[in-house]
Amino acid sequence: QEDIFKKVVAHAKEYGYVFQSSEIYDGLSAVYDYGQNGAELKKNIRDYWWKAMVQLHENIVGIDAAIFMHPTTWKASGHVDAFNDPLIDNKDSKKRYRADVLVEDHCAKIEGKIEKEVKKAAKRFGDAFDKDQFLATNPRVVKYQEQIDGILKRLGKSLENEDLADVKALIEELGIVCPISGSKNWTDVKQFNLMFGTKLGASADSAMDLYLRPETAQGIFVNFLNVQKTGRMKIPFGIAQTGKAFRNEIVARQFVFRMREFEQMEMQFFVRPGSQKEWYEKWKETRLKWHLSLGFGADNYRFHDHEKLAHYADAAADIEFKFPFGFKELEGIHSRTDFDLSSHEKFSGKKLQYFDPELNESYVPYVVETSIGLDRMFLAIFSKALQEEELENGSTRTVLKLPAVLAPTKAAVLPLVKKDGLPDLAHKIIEDLRWDFNVIYDEKDAVGRRYRRQDANGTPFCITVDHQSLEDNTVTIRHRDTMAQERVAIDAVRAMIKEAVDI
Ligand code: GAP
Repeated sequence: QEDIFKKVVAHAKEYGYVFQSSEIYDGLSAVYDYGQNGAELKKNIRDYWWKAMVQLHENIVGIDAAIFMHPTTWKASGHVDAFNDPLIDNKDSKKRYRADVLVEDHCAKIEGKIEKEVKKAAKRFGDAFDKDQFLATNPRVVKYQEQIDGILKRLGKSLENEDLADVKALIEELGIVCPISGSKNWTDVKQFNLMFGTKLGASADSAMDLYLRPETAQGIFVNFLNVQKTGRMKIPFGIAQTGKAFRNEIVARQFVFRMREFEQMEMQFFVRPGSQKEWYEKWKETRLKWHLSLGFGADNYRFHDHEKLAHYADAAADIEFKFPFGFKELEGIHSRTDFDLSSHEKFSGKKLQYFDPELNESYVPYVVETSIGLDRMFLAIFSKALQEEELENGSTRTVLKLPAVLAPTKAAVLPLVKKDGLPDLAHKIIEDLRWDFNVIYDEKDAVGRRYRRQDANGTPFCITVDHQSLEDNTVTIRHRDTMAQERVAIDAVRAMIKEAVDI
């Protein structure tokens, strides 16, 4: 698995998808730049989300709020008080870890043991295997599960009570070792604020302390009334937004999975109090369908319903994705009650209510939120799309099977040879297609090698211009995933690509 992940990171660099930020200065930890192909893929994912959420929903509109927000925002949102991570240092390796993540990783190991037992039993019982029954009755599995439940319950309780000494005690009792040094020599656990601070204003005494937003959601909450009134929105309705967010993550690792500067795609859906559970379930289902529409297969996704809820939530779930390093959170769906709007009412002194004409009364709406990291979605897609295939002739090909709708380049136009007017015709085809799609020209190397290059780049179609093209105005279209080739009239190429890349 680690090997696959290394290949993902290397391929992302080699093909201009993701670079370490400021690489010539040896990089900046957990900050990344998107290259020429990465920027296109990221934009296409963002557009795919925006289309599904805003364009296809009559009652959802999109905004673009500023990254800088009034500092009181973060008091109202709870981030000043609560956006802290419990950290612990290993005295031998001098490495810092999130204490809760160490404990959760420990539980994941126990979960791994359960999975092993399940696999063993499935093999033993064959078709007669009933997984649910096995999980509920096998004494060893039940014991493991009790262990996990007990540990997580205690962790949740001590974090809630800010009993950091107990978090440390738990780490020691579980015998958790530092992944780097293997030692159990831990410091005390301390809280650490994750927001980046900055200053607004020139002179030191009048400058205002600001934070870079750690989530885009608050830009939506503070604009709730502006949008509702100017858009004459009727509840239930949603406000969507994509944009940068910043967190001084301590355990920043796993490439673009956890970054210090990242992009979120969030939607707040404002509903009548009492109807939030129903909308929460609806959004869970709708968002999972969106993921499945990309065609990577249902077994790569699962819901993780939270038992430990944030102070503002009355229900929460993650959509987890099978990354190369295991199932991890990709998107969160939260039923946030009226916490945010009520809190902004309190701190701003402004009424943030909706007059419901059907009920003939005003209330603070409840909110169901869907929140997904664009970079994390990028990693999910990129890592699943990257495949190595054994071919019949014994060679292997590296192919990036991106959904056509998301591919940075939709087609490459390749003259079979660099003479006889074939390059001219290829350029003519490109000039015609580039109004609708990203298309590129490639004449270097034998055509087989050019195909491989486009496979690795994720380009779904190669259009080859040969001598026959000059006679009958047809070209060969080669499909990336099947490697099948077909002869198509030049006039028909646009419609063919369009059909493949349309949502
Ligand atoms: N407004 C709710 C909110 O921000 P969150 O669970 O903290 O909730 C939502 O973040 C999503 O943002 C996550 O599911 C993840 O995809 C993404 N995300 C969070 N922190 C991230 C980071 N440091 N790097 C990349 N993506 C991140």
